[in-house]
Amino acid sequence: MAYWIGCRIIPNSCFRIGSGGFDFGGKIWVGCDSDWVAFDGREEDLWMGLSGLLTVMTGGIGRRMEGLIMDIEDSADESKWTVAKGWERRGWLWVAFDLVCRYFGLLWDGEVECTIPKDDGTLASFVGFRVQHDNARGPMKGGIRYHQEVDPDEVNALAQLMTWKTAVANIPYGGAKGGIGCNPGDLSVSELERLTRVFTQKIHDLIGIHTDVPAPDMGTGPQTMAWILDEYSKFHGYSPAVVTGKPIDLGGSLGRDAATGRGVLFATEALLNEYGKSISGQRFVIQGFGNVGSWAAQLISEQGGKIVAVSDVTGAIKNKNGIDIPNLLKHAKEHKGVKGFHGGDPIDPKSILVEDCDILIPAALGGVINRENANEIKAKFIIEAANHPTDPEADEILSKKGVVILPDIYANSGGVTVSYFEWVQNIQGFLWDEEKVNNELKTYMTKGFKDVKEMCKAHNCDLRMGAFTLGVNRVARATVLRGWEA
Ligand SMILES: NC(=O)c1ccc[n+]([C@@H]2O[C@H](COP(=O)([O-])OP(=O)(O)OC[C@H]3O[C@@H](n4cnc5c(N)ncnc54)[C@H](O)[C@@H]3O)[C@@H](O)[C@H]2O)c1
Repeated sequence: MAYWIGCRIIPNSCFRIGSGGFDFGGKIWVGCDSDWVAFDGREEDLWMGLSGLLTVMTGGIGRRMEGLIMDIEDSADESKWTVAKGWERRGWLWVAFDLVCRYFGLLWDGEVECTIPKDDGTLASFVGFRVQHDNARGPMKGGIRYHQEVDPDEVNALAQLMTWKTAVANIPYGGAKGGIGCNPGDLSVSELERLTRVFTQKIHDLIGIHTDVPAPDMGTGPQTMAWILDEYSKFHGYSPAVVTGKPIDLGGSLGRDAATGRGVLFATEALLNEYGKSISGQRFVIQGFGNVGSWAAQLISEQGGKIVAVSDVTGAIKNKNGIDIPNLLKHAKEHKGVKGFHGGDPIDPKSILVEDCDILIPAALGGVINRENANEIKAKFIIEAANHPTDPEADEILSKKGVVILPDIYANSGGVTVSYFEWVQNIQGFLWDEEKVNNELKTYMTKGFKDVKEMCKAHNCDLRMGAFTLGVNRVARATVLRGWEA
């Protein structure tokens, strides 16, 4: 029997895979609610465990954590990896320790205060976050989100997802995430610029070409990245590789805009291929018609897929003969949403996920597939284009129904993969043509699927567990090789 100690980095267990940490010897485990994939378990001295825990606590910034001590079966080598059932005991002592450290300001919690003058001359303050989760495999990578509901727990969760996502994609990065609690729609362009510049002034020592490379996320875009690049360069000299997702004129990559949607297409093709199917003739439902959803819809319909329903924040439409996507794109651009499109019938946006189809693509918000609607879902395949769209309860219900879920950390990794290509091009000082970008993306997505499948076969698990096992395995190997385990 081995006792394991670790820190639960995400307190909000609504995220399917919530935890990572170190055992007594500093090895990594990862768990999802009641199931834990652990490896290299051996009985070790408590102080070694404490040092592992401290490594986690001091190795990054802004982590909220819960401690736990658990008993698991011995799994001395990779072939004996085991899924341990249940949390045995929670080490609340560590929670108390974390709180005391925070109270005395011993741990920086990843927050910065950004005060700017508004256009009317009044002052406004916003809280910004940058959470750096892991850098064993390379510089940390992750988006910056501007949204009124940005909170530290979610940023922590997303930073961790980035660590596993970059590892699954096999690109040389770790994971980070950031954001500012603001509603970008309420701010003028010049207010957004001032806010972005002040935020960059506060975090310029944390980010860098070889330390942490931000990218756009919800509420931010190429212009935000251009302001960060400019502000950062005032401190460190011209540094285009410090952010990705930039405008092409400032070193952005061709193909980046479509990359996540294109990655979703390649991921779907790879999955369907396993079942002797192709995109052509399949019926798709897509929730979200922003960057990811609209590109996925466009590329899937070009391959002969039939998009039978689409929704966004303005409404939802359905056409069982297939929606004319080029026309819907024009309509959505002109009317700022899909509502009012005449090439289909309006439906209740709440019913979009349970519409009859072969393949469901959630490409909007997290947590939308839950125990309330999981039983009603008719799709045979779900491609998670959004981050964490399926909650753990829904995951269980769907897996009992035989629905195959392609997990977010693989399915939407096309964006970060092309971000990596952008960073490589900036460091090389050489612009690739779009064909090269798209071909390289296809190679990475196809290889990623093969690697995930191999893990599933080796451990007899579903695609989500296979993807996380692959990601954790790669991060663990880098951690051990760098000598960080002790
Ligand atoms: N853009 C990327 O490169 C990228 C990469 C990986 C993951 N993701 C994830 O994909 C998802 C979508 O990102 P995006 O870049 O397309 O964002 P976006 O802001 O461009 O689009 C979001 C879309 O979701 C819609 N939406 C919002 N609330 C909705 C609701 N309640 N019901 C239905 N639709 C709703 C919006 O109207 C919009 O069409 C997010 O979860 C994001 O984290 C994006």
